[in-house]
Amino acid sequence: MVKESAHKFCIAPMMQYTDLHDRYLLRLISKNVFLYTEMISTGSLVYGKCFNQLEFNDEEHPVGVQLGGSDINDLVECSKKCEQYGYDEINLNVGCPSDRVQKGKFGACLMLEPELVKDCLGNMSNAVQVPVSIKCRLGIDDNESYEFLYNFISIVKESGINIFIIHARNGILKGLSPRQNRNIPPLKYDYVYRLKKDFPDLEIILNGGIKTIDETSEHLKKVDGVMIGRSAYENPYMLRKIENDFYKNDSTGRSKKEILKIYLEYVEKKLIEGHDLGRMMKHLFGLSRGDKFAKTFRIKILEIIKENSLKGHKKELEDLLIY
Ligand SMILES: Cc1cc2nc3c(=O)[nH]c(=O)nc-3n(C[C@H](O)[C@H](O)[C@H](O)COP(=O)(O)O)c2cc1C
Repeated sequence: MVKESAHKFCIAPMMQYTDLHDRYLLRLISKNVFLYTEMISTGSLVYGKCFNQLEFNDEEHPVGVQLGGSDINDLVECSKKCEQYGYDEINLNVGCPSDRVQKGKFGACLMLEPELVKDCLGNMSNAVQVPVSIKCRLGIDDNESYEFLYNFISIVKESGINIFIIHARNGILKGLSPRQNRNIPPLKYDYVYRLKKDFPDLEIILNGGIKTIDETSEHLKKVDGVMIGRSAYENPYMLRKIENDFYKNDSTGRSKKEILKIYLEYVEKKLIEGHDLGRMMKHLFGLSRGDKFAKTFRIKILEIIKENSLKGHKKELEDLLIY
């Protein structure tokens, strides 16, 4: 039996998707799932001074921030800043395969530099009180053996961190786009299960291709937690079942209509602060998933985004949800 983890169920960081608005919406559905920001590059914080990227809502806790970078000083400076902002955890991205990120010498290419990753994470953890974690792949390119992963984790764990989120497929740095890199390299869940056996003291969280509650239950017999990205975005209300089944907690059991109502009040408040309506409304697309009027609901949202106004549409949207 694996011990209970704060990361039993996590939402994956996803650029352009898991922004502060989406996280606010998800938190209305589930009180306990662990949330992560999109990846924020240390360069944009240290040199671009784009600190507005760190903004989040108090309601989001527990929420981790994900940093992308490989310069130790920059990572330390950003970790301190993120701690000051109130994040509950700082995560290092060692899984992004994009060309831009490779050029910056961070993301998945760091799988080839376990000593550097160890030093980055060790210095980050020494600089802050909150936990520091890593999200990585199984390997990159043709480093496909379990031994490669085992060696990477053995070295990185010397940093003292113990939360490891593993996207259970290799990253292919040449020839595949980031999107293809999330679908084409085969999933090898058995590698992640094996890691948990070989490193029982580490918190091992499995990510990649998980779609259903049943799959989640199966994985949780073998690892400490699961992380879900696309399926949760496409069907955010699945978190209601996660909350009930895995946390035995029905206190936040809001109906879809209630969630919509609270979220639209939030949207109106954020509009006054200057946030973009389209960016906030698109997160609602999935809320009607599986409902009778799901398509009409989505079309209505598109209309609202096009008109750039919510006026007169709130009730119409609510009526299109069945409960
Ligand atoms: C649109 C999109 C953006 C993503 N952005 C990030 C990111 O910023 N940081 C990261 O570690 N992973 C990112 N990922 C990868 C996800 O975190 C996750 O590892 C991947 O989608 C596999 O999980 P899933 O099959 O549950 O979606 C992104 C994925 C998608 C679909």
